[in-house]
Amino acid sequence: MKSKPEAEDGVAAAAVDYGNRTIVLVGLMGAGKSSVGRRLAAALNLPFRDADTEIETASNMTIPDFFELHGEAAFREGERKVIARLLEEPRHVLATGGGAFMDPETRRLIAEKGCAIWLRADLDVIYKRCMKRNNRPLLKSGNPRETLQRLMNERYPVYAEADIIVDSGDGPHEIVVDKIISALATSASEGHLHENAGNE
Ligand code: S3P
Repeated sequence: MKSKPEAEDGVAAAAVDYGNRTIVLVGLMGAGKSSVGRRLAAALNLPFRDADTEIETASNMTIPDFFELHGEAAFREGERKVIARLLEEPRHVLATGGGAFMDPETRRLIAEKGCAIWLRADLDVIYKRCMKRNNRPLLKSGNPRETLQRLMNERYPVYAEADIIVDSGDGPHEIVVDKIISALATSASEGHLHENAGNE
């Protein structure tokens, strides 16, 4: 687990009380957002929402079909609306699709209403997990490993804007859940200290 550098993140994190904010998992496909999110929600006794599933329910079609029929731009628009709606709901754990956090408006809303947690994983872990299923439209054409590397190059600097960064390796999802819970607890106690310091 690694939070952002002190100067950039320590004070900002301390000033934010994540206690009543929706926990938003971001990261590349295959990072484990849905699997970790479901377990994290159970551990924290919070509802779990998956933005991709919500899009599938709202459109009554699978994501590959949505991409095929309406194209990526329409998907991104739907994704932005669905996440904006979910962020209005009471506190929950929200798994987002890998491209969601790349949208500036979605990032702004998450910064305002949520706590973004980037599940960071390396290419080997991502590639291995993605190859287990054939449901990612972005990996349907071309060389999937190269596509994933390109997406990592484009997206990792943006995912790094998340409030908390947690490494997601090859091990059991429970380990990642524990790391997230302790990262949240750390930022909560920093917030508490900060608040006390401000009141003195
Ligand atoms: C996408 C990731 C997918 C899904 C869509 C686009 C992306 O979600 O939203 O296929 O742009 O990386 P997962 O990250 O849950 O696979």
